[in-house]
Amino acid sequence: MYNKDDFSITKIEQSKINEANLENPGFGKFYTDHMLICDYRDGKWQTPEIKPYGPMQLDPASKIFHYGQSIFEGMKAFKDEKGKVWLFRPEQNFQRFNKSCVRMCMPEFPEEYFFGALDILMNLDKDWITSKDGYSLYIRPFAIGIENQVAAAPATEYRVCIICSPVKAYYTEESTGLKVLIQDRFSRSAEGGVGFVKAGGNYGASFYPTELARKEGYQQIIWTDSATHQYMEEAGTMNVIFRIGDTLITAPTNERILDGVTRKSILKLAEDKGFDVDVRPIKVEEVLNAEKQGELKEIFGVGTAATLVPFVGFGYKGEYFELPKVENPYGPQLKKALQDIQYNRAEDKFNWLYEIK
Ligand code: COI
Repeated sequence: MYNKDDFSITKIEQSKINEANLENPGFGKFYTDHMLICDYRDGKWQTPEIKPYGPMQLDPASKIFHYGQSIFEGMKAFKDEKGKVWLFRPEQNFQRFNKSCVRMCMPEFPEEYFFGALDILMNLDKDWITSKDGYSLYIRPFAIGIENQVAAAPATEYRVCIICSPVKAYYTEESTGLKVLIQDRFSRSAEGGVGFVKAGGNYGASFYPTELARKEGYQQIIWTDSATHQYMEEAGTMNVIFRIGDTLITAPTNERILDGVTRKSILKLAEDKGFDVDVRPIKVEEVLNAEKQGELKEIFGVGTAATLVPFVGFGYKGEYFELPKVENPYGPQLKKALQDIQYNRAEDKFNWLYEIK
């Protein structure tokens, strides 16, 4: 529980909602009227402020600019047909937010500030959420080191912000499916590294290999393990699931793989539908063999921003493999089951929804 009196709240004078294209918002193009800013100084979190969204000034010597001490979360709010707003499994994002903070040597953020800010922001900016299928409010909490000191050591001052963006599809190719390249040279993460948390640098470091893949006609990369490049790990900004025969296979989470909220939700829904689910290391070779034998039926990426995106084919060592068109694919069935819960159209039997009151 949070106390609204703990927050300083300044409302915007004139909403900017009319400047946004809510019908066709894209992803991360528009931001709602309000944001959270909360600073950590003198060993404690200061008063959390809800204020009009806008630029912030930082000293050029702030650690974030030099050492990338930055972590973030991605979560979504949905509006149901009656206009009620729901968050999807926000406690998972909160726990991971602090897990990321710990790994990046940053102070953990208080639960009551996190949930208090979400409640206040959702209430102030609920008009920005469209209740139609596929539309949601993408919520981006992030934390950065802001001490102005260029010594390579953890900051003593931090800032947590929460900004919100009305969104639709993350990938423009969502309806046609993505072509992905199995990466056998670059790595997203390594054992002992920060791949399991949402450090900003994990994403920044993926841009270059992804740009190279784009030049070859692929929209994303399937990352393999850094030590041998023999095992499938993640796909682009998502976890990745393979359907071989009628079994869904995905890698277990570890120090290199993000414990995705959508990943675990989709796996749960798959089990609930009676699909076979196998969480185990999956070799590139196994996928290639399954493709040869006609057993590789689907591959899809799962993540908060993208939800569930099917892949139409993949590249590996200069060869391209087109995936077959299967009857009644699992991917869309699972996406629908997930969205039915998110939009409060189906029974929330796993208690995933968090009601904004
Ligand atoms: C998400 O799916 O929410 C992510 O954090 C990926 C991000 C790079 C858009």
